[in-house]
Amino acid sequence: PKAKVIKLRVAEQHRLQRVQVNGWIHRLRVQKGVAFIVLRDGTGFLQCVLSGDLANAYQTSTLTLESTVSIYGVIKPVPEGQSAPGGHELIADYYDIVGLAPSGDEAFTNKVQESADPSILLDQRHLALRGETLSAVMKVRATLLRAVREVYEEEGLLEVTPPCMVQTQVEGGSTLFGFQYYGEEAYLTQSSQLYLETCVPALGDVYCIQESFRAERSHTRRHLSEYTHIEAELGFLSFEDLLDHIERVISRTVAKVLADPVAGPLVKQLNPNFEPPKTPFMRLEYVKALDWLNEHGIPNEDGEKFKFGDDIAEAAERKMTDIIGVPILLNRFPLEIKSFYMKKCADDPRVTESVDVLMPGVGEITGGSMRIDNLEELLAGFKREGINPEPYYWFSDQRKYGSFPHGGYGLGTERILAWLCDRFTVRDCSLYPRFTGRCKP
Ligand code: 4AD
Ligand code: MG
Repeated sequence: PKAKVIKLRVAEQHRLQRVQVNGWIHRLRVQKGVAFIVLRDGTGFLQCVLSGDLANAYQTSTLTLESTVSIYGVIKPVPEGQSAPGGHELIADYYDIVGLAPSGDEAFTNKVQESADPSILLDQRHLALRGETLSAVMKVRATLLRAVREVYEEEGLLEVTPPCMVQTQVEGGSTLFGFQYYGEEAYLTQSSQLYLETCVPALGDVYCIQESFRAERSHTRRHLSEYTHIEAELGFLSFEDLLDHIERVISRTVAKVLADPVAGPLVKQLNPNFEPPKTPFMRLEYVKALDWLNEHGIPNEDGEKFKFGDDIAEAAERKMTDIIGVPILLNRFPLEIKSFYMKKCADDPRVTESVDVLMPGVGEITGGSMRIDNLEELLAGFKREGINPEPYYWFSDQRKYGSFPHGGYGLGTERILAWLCDRFTVRDCSLYPRFTGRCKP
């Protein structure tokens, strides 16, 4: 008889009912007289028990991991003393093989071993995604993106979709991916910031969730060539307001993820020691951070004491963040180590109204600033960086047609996830990671 087709996510609600479930064989134990299948359908897991004729059928002995099956039967609580995902199991009365996966050399377990070399697992990413850890991170990722959209909605920001193909840089010429665009030079966008700035007079405060591209040459655990960039731009606010806003967005987004019935428990599982960040975040000025680093004997990139103007590179930044152990809003970076568009501090023109958010375990997850709103100053910024201002006419125009104080920031989705889910590298937080030397699958 016909049975209701259900997703495993709602198996609990169908206890004692006869249902049809469709999925992939995640785990398999066939013995004489009974076969146990843990079925996976992407929304959940369900143990299915095949006994009697079903278990003894020749077909059952041919079953393999990752074969697709449709199984029919009644969902019952597991007997006392036994365990199964969700505390229930499906007592099967019939099943169909929809797609039989290979056995032998080609068997799934030979293709994807969690202990295999990372580059093999990356070649087999399409199969590795089915693993419990990677799929859990992807579920948290989906919830994170939904949560951040909700927070922006509550904060009154409007979502826009800027272009990925552009003719301007934002974060330095050395990491641009260039290509030919109908005979013209073009780039994959490094950041949607400049476009967001043009939206504020038209649409008010805005945000976007868009891919950004960086031709990073170094192999690090937190750099991708393509990443999902969450960016926002707000008008008529002070630097302090911007810091408060960033802190609010991060802490409320995390709170929503933790409160989510699917993602919350997954974060617990992936990162049992995770503590939601306490607000207000620690605020640390760049010059004070240099003192801290020097006091703690952490050297700069040349192995020397930090001095004003030095970049706090990844290793030192991470060490400092790990020792301090709480989120840090590191702010007021020197002009010369930051981008052309950053506004100088009124009380000290050597430094800018800029901020990086640093998280234990990862380091920088967010970078932002107030923007230069004076045309002459912006043109001086282009000059300092050796940028031809001509392709930026539309960006410069913002300083002519009704300039206004504004600021914004970008959050790296994969970096927030690495922090939230305790992953060693951002590569584990991207569906199909792109980095130096990898553009497949
Ligand atoms: O600090 P970044 O380069 O700042 C900007 O792009 C600004 N224009 C953003 C803005 O103000 N609208 O990048 C922002 C964030 C970083 O803090 C980091 O989390 C992430 O983007 N990020 C990367 N994530 C993965 N791989 C890379 N190669 C990344 N580069 C930056
Ligand atoms: Mg940065």
